[in-house]
Amino acid sequence: MKSGILYGMCWEDPDLFTALVKPNDEVLTVCSAGDIAMSTLTKNPSRVVAVDTNSDQIELTKTKAWAFQHLNYHDCHRFIGTFGPSPNRVTWLEPHYSSMSLELKSWIVSNHLDQKSILQSGRFETYLRFFARFLLPLAVSKKTIHSFLNAQSLEEQLEIYNHRIDNMRYRFLFRQFFGRLQRIGRHPDLLKHVKADLAGVFYQRIKHAWLDVSIENNYFFRFILTGLMQQNLTLPLWAQIGNFESIKKSAGTLEFVNNSIVDFLENTKDSFDAINLSNISEVMTVEDSNRLFELCRTHLKPNGHLLVWNNMVDRKPNKNWKLDESRTLQFWENRTGSLYGFLGVYQPA
Ligand SMILES: C[S@@+](CC[C@H](N)C(=O)[O-])C[C@H]1O[C@@H](n2cnc3c(N)ncnc32)[C@H](O)[C@@H]1O
Repeated sequence: MKSGILYGMCWEDPDLFTALVKPNDEVLTVCSAGDIAMSTLTKNPSRVVAVDTNSDQIELTKTKAWAFQHLNYHDCHRFIGTFGPSPNRVTWLEPHYSSMSLELKSWIVSNHLDQKSILQSGRFETYLRFFARFLLPLAVSKKTIHSFLNAQSLEEQLEIYNHRIDNMRYRFLFRQFFGRLQRIGRHPDLLKHVKADLAGVFYQRIKHAWLDVSIENNYFFRFILTGLMQQNLTLPLWAQIGNFESIKKSAGTLEFVNNSIVDFLENTKDSFDAINLSNISEVMTVEDSNRLFELCRTHLKPNGHLLVWNNMVDRKPNKNWKLDESRTLQFWENRTGSLYGFLGVYQPA
């Protein structure tokens, strides 16, 4: 299925799922924007399968994998747009196209990824950037955002948030934008089981980004506020220079499946050491999500782990699974992303 690019970047901390992967493991993950699949390569797994119903997410990830394989660190991230949009992309990319399949090149050109940042290319990123570029400045001055980006401690972040950010206008704009336009920034399937007050929930959740995580380490929030990551500050695993060679070496071994993970699991006898479901159980009915969890259980190797995220809808594994409480708590407390309401690390009971 082709649905357009929904995500240019994965918004779940890639290091959390990667922490569940050991050398020689066989890994299965929802593909999304590919960052999590790519990050697991730093652990030298024997196999990584990335599954997605949306063919555009698969092509986007193949594009990132191509960049890792064929470009040096600097050009790879120039192409992906990690450290900001690069000028003259079309010109400097042209000589590299000879190492790319015609099919992938034509997908890149038809989606204008030869002209714009890949990380910014999804509907979700476009929507977040719109808020940060055009609406946030109506409530919070650029000088304040600059001060926040340069805050040296959580106390300073709290001071700036309480006195210069969380004003009436900010709350009003937040409510208007996240209440109505949340539905534009995400695929409608992701919200079909949602009944909650989206704006109210996200207003509380985003406080985690303003107040709980040091802005120096919060590459997700810096990316929302500035549209880029900074090479001299904390980066996700896939963007760290020290991981470049291991990802480059294995990027060509990533296996892609353009199908529902349910269909994939129903039709394979393969089993896995680690499975990442992202939050796809949320778009399912309780019965369908239980069917998916059962398929994961029967395809996990002994001592294997399942990672599940929930954003707005409660769809967790229950019977036949046990929650790894200490790892779940540790992951939750160390997470950088602020958009989710729950994550759980599970093992078969
Ligand atoms: C559920 S979304 C969430 C993405 C997440 N917020 C992130 O940060 O990457 C992840 C991806 O799951 C895909 N997807 C949804 N349902 C699926 C299914 N049943 N099987 C495989 N992929 C699925 C979507 O196409 C999308 O690319």
